[in-house]
Amino acid sequence: MADLASMSASASAGDPAVRQLIEWFARDGTDFPWRRTRDRYAILVAEVQLQSTQVARVVPYFDAWMERWPTACDLAQASLGEVLGAWQGLGYPRRARNLHRAARRICDVGWPDADRLTELPGVGPYTAAAIRCFADGAAVLPADINVMRVLSRRFPDGWPGTPDGHGWAVGQAFMDLGREWCTARAPRCDEGCPLREGCAAADEGRVLEMTPTRRSQSRFAGSLRQRRGVLMRELTTLGTVAIDRDPGAAATLIADGLARAADDHLCLPSD
Ligand code: ADE
Repeated sequence: MADLASMSASASAGDPAVRQLIEWFARDGTDFPWRRTRDRYAILVAEVQLQSTQVARVVPYFDAWMERWPTACDLAQASLGEVLGAWQGLGYPRRARNLHRAARRICDVGWPDADRLTELPGVGPYTAAAIRCFADGAAVLPADINVMRVLSRRFPDGWPGTPDGHGWAVGQAFMDLGREWCTARAPRCDEGCPLREGCAAADEGRVLEMTPTRRSQSRFAGSLRQRRGVLMRELTTLGTVAIDRDPGAAATLIADGLARAADDHLCLPSD
């Protein structure tokens, strides 16, 4: 991929595995649309969308979003109803609401300083690190569950350090490695993993054992999250839905600012 290759010129110094990772990514990294930009707003949109949904599903949403609202101020001018409608299908609509609020703040007063990105609505330490890495090119690893897994398996003694100027490529390479090779349950160590050489966990057959655990997700079926999803889908498709369809779920959508009550119906927020 010429574009990525030119951004990740050969890493001449540092740990051999890190060098291998950078060279592999320059050759074989995946060309996602959010990898063709260094715009902070675009990276924020992509990262929030990617938090809840698999990459292949996010691509068309990201493209459509950036086409419709190419800047934070464009998004700031949209109504929350429009934003929730465009989000429909990605899940976790609170993320859309927070993204909308963040865009309004960015449009009003600009971006916070790099060490205060978590002051933006919906931006936690992971997303802040992703903006630093993928937009600003800082040598910060956005440590989501995938990155933590690769680190704990392949670099159990700690990360050897990112060579100068390669923060972006290292961060993206970790994303690809965690998604395609060093996966949680079926790692493909001997099917061409680019960091197989020198991987003690694989040599010793301890890869699965060296996987950090995460709290199991609560069951989706019948959960409040599912019921909220049903109501939001109806609301964004039909524009209104009777509160007595599911008063409990409706109350939580109103409390989160994702819907408003009009008599005995729910409507999309008007602001
Ligand atoms: N998941 C989160 N951020 C990502 C990125 N930049 N590329 C691919 N997958 C991701």
